[in-house]
Amino acid sequence: MTENFTKIDKALFAGAKAVRENAHVPYSNFKVGAAILAEDGNIYTCCNVENAAYPQSVCAEAGAISTMIANGQNKIKRLYVIGTGVEPVMPCGGCRQKIREFADQDVVIISHGIDGEPLALTLEQLLPYSFGPENLQVIK
Ligand code: THU
Repeated sequence: MTENFTKIDKALFAGAKAVRENAHVPYSNFKVGAAILAEDGNIYTCCNVENAAYPQSVCAEAGAISTMIANGQNKIKRLYVIGTGVEPVMPCGGCRQKIREFADQDVVIISHGIDGEPLALTLEQLLPYSFGPENLQVIK
């Protein structure tokens, strides 16, 4: 664990690690847990939930966003995702766009393989030159 891990990061890590245990992954066996710090200071979590019809599977990040929204929050302040193995689990393209809907460009996303070290990147680093809600403000 890196030295500049904040108290919040420790709580996000714990939340993502715990929920990861509940992942439904009979097809990939790749467990992921995600934890979001929202504007209200609470942490919202979810794991990946796979499906026999593979494309219907839901990523941990997408589930955590749904949990946050269902609890009346719509601002991601920080996000922690823990995957399987040593390499940091990098959010898929679809999840990067889903995060973009609810996060500012400077929001930090920490990716972590359960057996490795965390990697902290901003949303802007993960999804440069992106399209977001403000791009639709041109519509009258
Ligand atoms: N997965 C996530 O839940 N989040 C990520 O950031 C990367 C991948 C899931 C999708 C699928 O259930 C499994 O990991 C393998 O791709």
